[in-house]
Amino acid sequence: MTVKSKIEEIIRAIGAMDVGAAEAYHALSGRSRKKVLEALDGEGLRSLTRLIKEAKRNSFNAAEKRFSAAAKGDIATPVYLIDETLIEENMRVLRYVKDRAGCRILHALKAYASFATFPVMSKYLDGVCASGLNEARLGREEFGKEVHTFAAAYSEKEIGQIVKHSDVVIFNSFHQLREYAQEMRKRGLETGLRVNPGHSEVTARMYDPCAPNSRLGVACKAFKREYPGHKEMIDGLHFHAMCEQNSDVLERVLKSFEELYGQHIHGLRWVNFGGGHHITRDNYDIERLVRLINKFKKRYGAQVYLEPGEASVLNAGVLISTVLDIVKNRTEIAVIDASAEAHMPDVLLMPYRPHVMGSSPAGRRRYTYRLAGPSCLAGDVMGDYSFNDPLQRGDKLVFTDMALYSIVKNTTFNGIGLPDIAVMRKGGRIDLVRSFGYSDYRNRQS
Ligand SMILES: Cc1ncc(COP(=O)(O)O)c(C=O)c1O
Repeated sequence: MTVKSKIEEIIRAIGAMDVGAAEAYHALSGRSRKKVLEALDGEGLRSLTRLIKEAKRNSFNAAEKRFSAAAKGDIATPVYLIDETLIEENMRVLRYVKDRAGCRILHALKAYASFATFPVMSKYLDGVCASGLNEARLGREEFGKEVHTFAAAYSEKEIGQIVKHSDVVIFNSFHQLREYAQEMRKRGLETGLRVNPGHSEVTARMYDPCAPNSRLGVACKAFKREYPGHKEMIDGLHFHAMCEQNSDVLERVLKSFEELYGQHIHGLRWVNFGGGHHITRDNYDIERLVRLINKFKKRYGAQVYLEPGEASVLNAGVLISTVLDIVKNRTEIAVIDASAEAHMPDVLLMPYRPHVMGSSPAGRRRYTYRLAGPSCLAGDVMGDYSFNDPLQRGDKLVFTDMALYSIVKNTTFNGIGLPDIAVMRKGGRIDLVRSFGYSDYRNRQS
C-alpha cells in the first residue's frame, strides 16, 4: 500500500470512528502524521483525539491482567514492575500533543528516572528536564537528547558539571543569572529565568510552587525592576505552577502569566510551561491544551516547552508486595514487605490512598484489613482495604500507579531493603533490571 493510500485509509477510519485508526496514526512517520492532521477539519481532529484516548484506555485495561498474572507468578517481592507497553502508550499521547501543537515536550526526571525504559521514551520526546547535576548527567548519558536544568539555586562546585551536561540552564534569581549566564552563553548554552506566574490552584501547600512566600520563581515585582538590565542574558522564561491538573487550570495560570509578563515575551526564544499537566489521564482536555499552545505561539512567536513527569509514566507501573504476617488489634492488620514510608513516600506526604488491585475501601467487601509496612514508624500505613477473601500470609498485593515519584524518592529507612526494579517488555517478558542489597544500604551510611 502506498503512503498516500495509507493516509487516505486512516482518514476514512477516523471518519468511521474506528479505533484502529489511532494505532495506524501512531505507526506513521512524522511527515505522514502531519499530512493526516492537515487533511482533517476541527471535527476530524477531535475524533482522532477521542480515538487515541480510547486506544490508550483499551491498552491500559488489558494490562491489568498482565500485572495480576505477574503477581501470581514467582516474582520476588517487593518489586516495582514497570510496563514498557504502557509507557509507550503515554508517550504516544504526548507525541500527539507535539504533533498538534508544534511544542516540545521534556520528561521530568524528578518523577521517574528508571533509564531501562528511556529507549522507548526518547523516541517520542525531545529530552528531559533536570533538577540539578545528577539528573542532568543521567539525562545526558542515558536519554541522549535536550537537557534543560532548573534548580532553586546552583552551587559553585557543581556549576561546571551542570554546564557540561545541560543545553539550557534556568535560573531562579537575577543574582545567579548574573553570576553564571554570560559564561554559559559563551559556551553555547541557552539560559532562562523561572518566574512566579502569580496564580496556582494546587490545594496541598506542600506541592504549591506559588504558595505565599514561595522561593520558586522570581516574583513579578522583582522581575519588573531587574529584567531590563538582564534582558540580553535571557533566552526564555519558565513557570511551574501545577500538580496533577487539567488544561483548564493551565488556561488560568497562563492568563495570569501573560497579564504579568506578556509585554516581555515578544523576542524570547521559548517559554516553558513547567510540569503538572496530567495529559495522559483519561479526562484530560487535550483539545484545550493544543488550542492554548497554538494561540500562545501565534501571539508571541516563541517556542513552547512542557515538562511533565507524572504524565509520562502515569499508571504504567505497580509495586508488588507480599503479606508477611497478619496481626490483630481491634482490626486485622496485614504487615507487608513494602513500606509506605520507604517505598511510596508520597502516600504519607501528599497524603493519598494508593489503589490495591482486587480491593475496595474498608467495609465494602467481606474482609477488611489495614495494610501496613514492616518499619518501626507507627504511621507506616497505606490504609484500610477490603477484599472478597481473607488475606493469607504469602499473598501478593499489587499497588497501582507506582512508577512515579516512588522509585526516585525511596529510602532505606530502618535498613529496609529497596524493592527490585523489573520491566515488563513488549511481548510480556519480565526483565529484572535492578536488585538491591546490603551494600546499597551500607554505602549510604558512613
Ligand atoms: C520545575 C518542575 N518541572 C516539572 C515538574 C514535573 O511535574 P509533574 O511530575 O507533576 O508533571 C515539576 C514537579 O515538581 C517541577 O517542579
